[in-house]
Amino acid sequence: MLSQVENETITRVGSGTPMGTLMRRYWQPVLLSWELPEPDCPPARVRILGEDLVAFRDTSGRVGLMDEFCPHRRASLWLGRNEENGLRCVFHGWKFDFKGACVEMPNELPEYEFKHKVRVTAYPTQETGGVIWAYMGPTEYMAPPPRFEWTRQPATHLHVSKSLQECNWLQALEGGLDSIHSSFLHRRFSGSRAGLGGHRAGAVAAKLDVRPTPYGYTYASIRPLKDNEGNYVRTYHYVLPHHQIRAIQELTDDGGTKSKIAGHMSVPIDDENCVVWNWYYSLGQPLDEKDRDESFWGNGPAFVDYQNGFRPRLQYSKANSWGIDRRVQKYETYTGIEGVNQQDRAVQESMGPIVDRSQEHLGQTDKAVITTRRQLLEAVKAVAEGFNPKGADTSYYDIRAIERVLPPGVDWLQALKEEMYPMGAPF
Ligand code: FES
Ligand SMILES: [Fe+2]
Repeated sequence: MLSQVENETITRVGSGTPMGTLMRRYWQPVLLSWELPEPDCPPARVRILGEDLVAFRDTSGRVGLMDEFCPHRRASLWLGRNEENGLRCVFHGWKFDFKGACVEMPNELPEYEFKHKVRVTAYPTQETGGVIWAYMGPTEYMAPPPRFEWTRQPATHLHVSKSLQECNWLQALEGGLDSIHSSFLHRRFSGSRAGLGGHRAGAVAAKLDVRPTPYGYTYASIRPLKDNEGNYVRTYHYVLPHHQIRAIQELTDDGGTKSKIAGHMSVPIDDENCVVWNWYYSLGQPLDEKDRDESFWGNGPAFVDYQNGFRPRLQYSKANSWGIDRRVQKYETYTGIEGVNQQDRAVQESMGPIVDRSQEHLGQTDKAVITTRRQLLEAVKAVAEGFNPKGADTSYYDIRAIERVLPPGVDWLQALKEEMYPMGAPF
């Protein structure tokens, strides 16, 4: 439970707000690389942290990300012409390079032009892991570019997608970090695609163990198995401000298991909307077509309209009650809603645009959620006092999430540390 003041502090992300200032200390994912497929392609709109921006890939392949509105008379630069290393406003022809400098002012005679005095706010970008990232904070605090293990995978082993969600970013983040819900929200009454996760069917309640780290925390949900067989341990990482990493073990057709590492980022569009990014990569074989089909998750083009701002298709949207089917709910799945991430989206959006956390009743299994809030509030305070927040450095790049059945009485972090931190633990 948070006070209403804390809830306001932790959720609102506009420029100049405490959380908005914290968010701007981290690189933020803004576009999938394929949204700007080639030099001089059409520009793309970006709305992030309450700011309306436009992105373009110039003739030399560099990505510019700048205020959407022309500094002359505020026409949208999204309408612009992307030509010869610059984006040109279609109203009077002013042209801006990828750093936001005005390089041409063709409507004014040479003796009157003042292009050297005009800039449009532009943010530095990086491209890695098939994603374009932006840094929107003060230059003196610019963190090193993101180099998570997933962003370093070859395209053959990596899959990244995203979808828009109609709720505050923290609801989406907390939904993912709250792992106990998978025993309920995602339950099917017959069959399961999960591999090791199948153990969950026999063990619903769990103990949550959260261990703070320099980048946020790692935690395990520990479910005792029947007949004292040991514990089914599922480990996760939370990296400030909105990144979570988890393991997926899937059964293959030949009865083996396939290991992937997956995660989400919940990136604020504004206070009441966010983009949920999904990524996963294979630790072994390249991903095949089946691996890239996200229908099971309720993601991908069958569920999300890529041509319409990555919004869920109307039949799966909040406006259509997420497509809930009460017959399916009665006989087949816990929710009657199709697709795992769709189920997540439904409950998170169902809370309203910004949930009132002063009305909650939290228990032991909400430990990860409670720790997240505490760490975010601490990070807000650290930045206000002139310190660096957690996770704005390079300590977290080589971390993995693992799931495993461990014998009773074994400390999960000791047992799994080498696998979770293959390059050594940063603590
Ligand atoms: S409004 Fe853009 S050039 Fe005039
Ligand atoms: Fe979920």
